Amino acid sequence: MQNNIRKIGILTSGGDASGMNAAIRAAVRYAIYKKIEVYGYYEGFKGLLSNNYKILSNNSVGGIIDRGGTVLYTARSEIFKTKEGLIKAKENLKKSSIDALIVIGGDGSFRGARDLNDLGVNTVGIPATIDNDIYGTDLSLGFDTALNVIISLVSKIRDTASSHERIFVIEVMGRNSGELAIRSGLACGADYVLIPEIKVDLVKISNAIKNHREGKRHTLVVVAEGAAKAEEVASSIKLLVDHEVRFSVLGHIQRGGSPSAVDRVLAAQFAKKAIDFIVSGGTNAMTAISNNKISIVDFKEIFSNTKTIDKELYDYSHILAK
Ligand code: F6P
Repeated sequence: MQNNIRKIGILTSGGDASGMNAAIRAAVRYAIYKKIEVYGYYEGFKGLLSNNYKILSNNSVGGIIDRGGTVLYTARSEIFKTKEGLIKAKENLKKSSIDALIVIGGDGSFRGARDLNDLGVNTVGIPATIDNDIYGTDLSLGFDTALNVIISLVSKIRDTASSHERIFVIEVMGRNSGELAIRSGLACGADYVLIPEIKVDLVKISNAIKNHREGKRHTLVVVAEGAAKAEEVASSIKLLVDHEVRFSVLGHIQRGGSPSAVDRVLAAQFAKKAIDFIVSGGTNAMTAISNNKISIVDFKEIFSNTKTIDKELYDYSHILAK
């Protein structure tokens, strides 16, 4: 049953993630198929405050499925976090007769969506962050693409590391989460992976590198930015190991690029689930994927839990790095 939903808003917020555009495209086209009009708000919650929107058509979201970033742009809005900001946003949505809002972003953005819900605006989130640190979903949009970017960059580093018989410390993103580091470390055959969730013991690691088997042409250390700075890790290793050490900070390159097949398909699946949820009268929750099934998880559950790392996978990647 169509729950009298005629118009919805959509925005992208927080750090951009590849796959956001694919999600916008799918949400717009599926909504139009369901006879719902879509208002795209620019620069996240900032666009709600300034009423900066564009009505999106099937044509207007053409040619974006394979583009990184977000055509709706994004921002981290401070004023939105105030009571006045929220009320203004609600008023603007009401003026345009918007029945519900789709927020594509990370858990910070979902807190904004939750606050709007508390004021009576129906909201649904689509998880998108390369950090993949949102509780309740196995994957967030952008994570798989970022992993693929990292893998391709580390392969290039490995070529030169091996040629020169060097130790390389590679810093990947992940402010509070070791997800990117663990999975890219495993996928790249890194020797050591340093993550914020586990205390870093640089002396122990340096000693282990010293005792590595003879004939090893390179040593790769992947460090999540939230665990330590690559430069500091490299300096510490240099003090204890009689080998050339270099470091590389991959930085924002990890956030750009055309979305992977996994992110494009997931974006389409999340968009459909979000619209169906809104149409059924749902609010205050996000779309998720768990055990290969698309589902809905309440914001309440997300905010009262913390996503934990796969410690077994972390340990296993170190067993393989012999
Ligand atoms: O979006 C998540 C993230 O990429 C983190 O991994 C990183 O710490 C942060 O954003 C960087 O933010 P900014 O683009 O604002 O420097």
